[in-house]
Amino acid sequence: MSHSLIEQFKEAGQGQVFKFWDKLSPTEQAALLEEAAEIDLAEIDSLFQSLVQGSHDAHQDFSGLAPAPYVAHPAHGGDQALWVDARKRGEEALSNGKVAAFVVAGGQGTRLGYDKPKGLFPVTPIHQKSLFQVFAEKILAAEKTYSTTIPWFIMTSNVNHQDTADFLESNGFFGLKSDQVHCFRQGRMPAIDLNGKILLSSKHSIAMSPDGHGGSLRALVRSGATQIMEENGIDVLSYFQVDNPLVKVIDPAFIGFHLQSGAGMSSKMIPKAYPEEKVGVFCKQGEKNLVIEYSDLPEDLMHETDENGQLKFLAGSIAIHTLSKDFINQMGGSDSSSPSLPFHRADKKIPTVDDAGHPVKPESPNGVKFEMFVFDALPFSEKTIVIETQRSTDFSPVKNAEGLDSPKTCKEDQMKEFVSWLSAAGETVAVDANGVPLQPIEVSALFGYDEASFSKSWNALTDKPDLSQTLDLT
Ligand code: UTP
Repeated sequence: MSHSLIEQFKEAGQGQVFKFWDKLSPTEQAALLEEAAEIDLAEIDSLFQSLVQGSHDAHQDFSGLAPAPYVAHPAHGGDQALWVDARKRGEEALSNGKVAAFVVAGGQGTRLGYDKPKGLFPVTPIHQKSLFQVFAEKILAAEKTYSTTIPWFIMTSNVNHQDTADFLESNGFFGLKSDQVHCFRQGRMPAIDLNGKILLSSKHSIAMSPDGHGGSLRALVRSGATQIMEENGIDVLSYFQVDNPLVKVIDPAFIGFHLQSGAGMSSKMIPKAYPEEKVGVFCKQGEKNLVIEYSDLPEDLMHETDENGQLKFLAGSIAIHTLSKDFINQMGGSDSSSPSLPFHRADKKIPTVDDAGHPVKPESPNGVKFEMFVFDALPFSEKTIVIETQRSTDFSPVKNAEGLDSPKTCKEDQMKEFVSWLSAAGETVAVDANGVPLQPIEVSALFGYDEASFSKSWNALTDKPDLSQTLDLT
């Protein structure tokens, strides 16, 4: 076995990757070499030294940390006129075809434990529509409202790319045109054990996993997505996560605030429900905005309150952003002037093989994965704006199979939003103590996607449905 790549791995102390080489078929050998070629050995060594051998959060510096300023929502005392202006600006951009939607869907969704890509997960209360269908309908509704085409970029990973692409195609892209939907793969990183050795997932494959949602910036550039933006005159991407069907996929006010401020990257926040809530927090350090992960925010800052008793570090990040094309190119380029996002360490149970090549399913974490986080790009944006949104209209993720942020809570939150639209339209719906309707309700974005559009469609119905029964407006 004399292959220069194998020699390089040996020299770097990673020869174990090829320990079954002589027992592999030519096809298996080729597959292993292909994976190995993706790995930057120097990068892995440096991550091992800094994140595994060194202190876990050595890169965190909390000096001079202050809460990030944000634009308050009108429902919380924000200036209505500002929002009207921003909305107009966003609507103009939408009508001029300057906006595309972008969902990051490359994650492994291990907590949910669903055996298909998360975007295929049945999420709506009555029809069990998939997350992808919910987003597609929101895009279709926005296209209709602004008489425009809104391209949709979907970031997948090697783990789920083919299943995602097949699903969208076999469902006719849920009414979108096939050439406006662009699926592309994100990069991957190998997992290492606690001694810095790259782990195998089988005799002929390396334990590779997606490089985190922060990998989206370079994947957008590498995949040619930014080129497509350029060719189609797209200036802004509306970024969201695949697990959150409540998200306003297209939010004209948010897009407007972003454009007015000339930002490279902007974000939405919601007030944290309680100090320990597991969301990152928007902070300011010097002139830069940044997000500090909940697990990294020092206890005293987490609980600090202002003179009104309100949490000082209140602004929770819900992974909804806008990204300008130029900023993506700046961050995602491959030349040396492009800043690189830091990697974070996650200790995981990584299925691997023993010395005899037999599969091992560890009971406790046996290795480390490396991921980039998209919010780490914020400090690189010269200008940025954070706006407040409401949890009830923008955020109810499906993370866990049960309990908090589960399919059950998400269905309830969808129905609570539909109830609020019905109330705004002057209707009364019977609900339980938590505000969940006693009979199931489902409203497609094609009928109504917010209070105003819902009211319009509702008022146009000549024969109003009976609200004491299941309500299906699809
Ligand atoms: P999560 O942090 O919830 O991770 O991703 P996950 O992989 O989906 O789920 P768990 O932690 O294994 O249970 C938040 C969002 O970022 C995307 C996910 O698809 C989701 O939309 N993501 C995450 C990527 O696109 N790529 C990644 O490498 C990681």
